[in-house]
Amino acid sequence: MPSELYRLVYYSVNRVTGKSSEASAEIATILAASQANNAKVGITGALIFNSGIFAQVLEGKRSDIEATFERIQRDPRHGDVQVLAFEPAACRGFPSWSMGYVGNSREDVNVFGNIAVDTGFDARRMEGDRIFQIMRDIVLEDEAHAA
Ligand SMILES: Cc1cc2nc3c(=O)[nH]c(=O)nc-3n(C[C@H](O)[C@H](O)[C@H](O)COP(=O)(O)O)c2cc1C
Repeated sequence: MPSELYRLVYYSVNRVTGKSSEASAEIATILAASQANNAKVGITGALIFNSGIFAQVLEGKRSDIEATFERIQRDPRHGDVQVLAFEPAACRGFPSWSMGYVGNSREDVNVFGNIAVDTGFDARRMEGDRIFQIMRDIVLEDEAHAA
């Protein structure tokens, strides 16, 4: 049932210190665990990382999102987790991504860089819907390029 579908949007502050290569390795580890775990319970979504801030969209069954988000919230690799939206969704914005990452290729970085410049991307000052839309636009653009 479509009414079963929920979407959660949050942002948080990176707590991984060290060189940017170490942060990249940590993000790769996070993504691998996310993709494996989310696929098992039918969660889809995307993760963005910019200027020390994570923003993430999780979509799926409410109880599955809650269980996943419980783990995410306790993760010491980030902090100050702020939920921007948690509400029913008509359809999935990232149907083919158990966890898409915005910024994992040179091209993505450029796209993201332009968005940051054009819109002054600042998760702290944005609404859940706006973050969702920006991430979705980037992922759709990437899919079009990959096709
Ligand atoms: C920013 C961020 C996003 C994360 N997103 C997810 C996610 O979507 N799904 C997930 O299972 N774990 C996610 N994690 C990792 C969890 O906090 C936790 O480490 C992981 O679920 C444990 O999985 P494991 O028991 O299979 O090792 C995220 C962590 C961080 C810091």
